[in-house]
Amino acid sequence: MAKTEIATLPRHIAIIMDGNGRWAKHRFLPRQAGHRAGLNAARRTIEACVQQGIGALTLFAFSSENWQRPRTEVSNLIELFVGALDSEVAKLHKNNIRIRFIGAHAAFSQALQDGMRQAEKLTQSNIGLVLNIAISYGGRWDVVQAVRRLTFEAVAGNIQPEEIDEARLSHALTLSGSPDPDLFIRTGGEQRISNFLLWNLAYTELYFTDSLWPDFDAAALQAALDWYAARQRRFGRISEPVGPES
Ligand code: IPE
Ligand code: IPE
Ligand code: MG
Repeated sequence: MAKTEIATLPRHIAIIMDGNGRWAKHRFLPRQAGHRAGLNAARRTIEACVQQGIGALTLFAFSSENWQRPRTEVSNLIELFVGALDSEVAKLHKNNIRIRFIGAHAAFSQALQDGMRQAEKLTQSNIGLVLNIAISYGGRWDVVQAVRRLTFEAVAGNIQPEEIDEARLSHALTLSGSPDPDLFIRTGGEQRISNFLLWNLAYTELYFTDSLWPDFDAAALQAALDWYAARQRRFGRISEPVGPES
């Protein structure tokens, strides 16, 4: 498969990995089997992004709202995540991938929080793909924590309230350092954002596919990249060159 032209390649891809439960249901399997298959799809997708030379990939692994699922599903998902942290980090590090975790992590055990910080520290100097894992993440939470940080700065007298602008707010968000996503992908057929990166997706190209996340692979990523390459991004401007003022 030909590598996509650099000029039309998204710098940052954000994915809502949806449809694990339905994938399992179609096979008369427990939902957890779908989540395990979803982890394999995440591995394949990370690998495919490295192959394509994508700069940053943000994966939505667990939302603020997913805490409301049955207790056993939540603990199964956390267990799967803990296992993946154990088994995958060394490999990701070897592939020059920089890992970051974004979300409200205080609800997790201290051991898990430490594991995430260690993985970030181990890989912080890597210059390959930046892999952001959104876990216990909500777009509204992200904006609130950014506002709170800026408010503390203002109360401490480090910034003036009138200095708070879009650039500063962007910088206080958890994804600061990565450019806004160029391409958003949601598998599983639903056409909604589900409280993912609300601020950062302001001008992202939105791609929805009916295929279920555990079926996602390099070919599915290529289909999304081809779709992206055909987009005309105007950012509010017009596409035709503007003639001289008359
Ligand atoms: C996405 O798949 C994985 C998580 C939200 C953790 P779902 O579990 O939402 O699968 P469906 O949407 O029920 O098929
Ligand atoms: C979004 O999927 C969250 C993740 C994929 C982690 P959900 O399945 O939770 O979203 P809704 O409930 O369909 O909006
Ligand atoms: Mg779902």
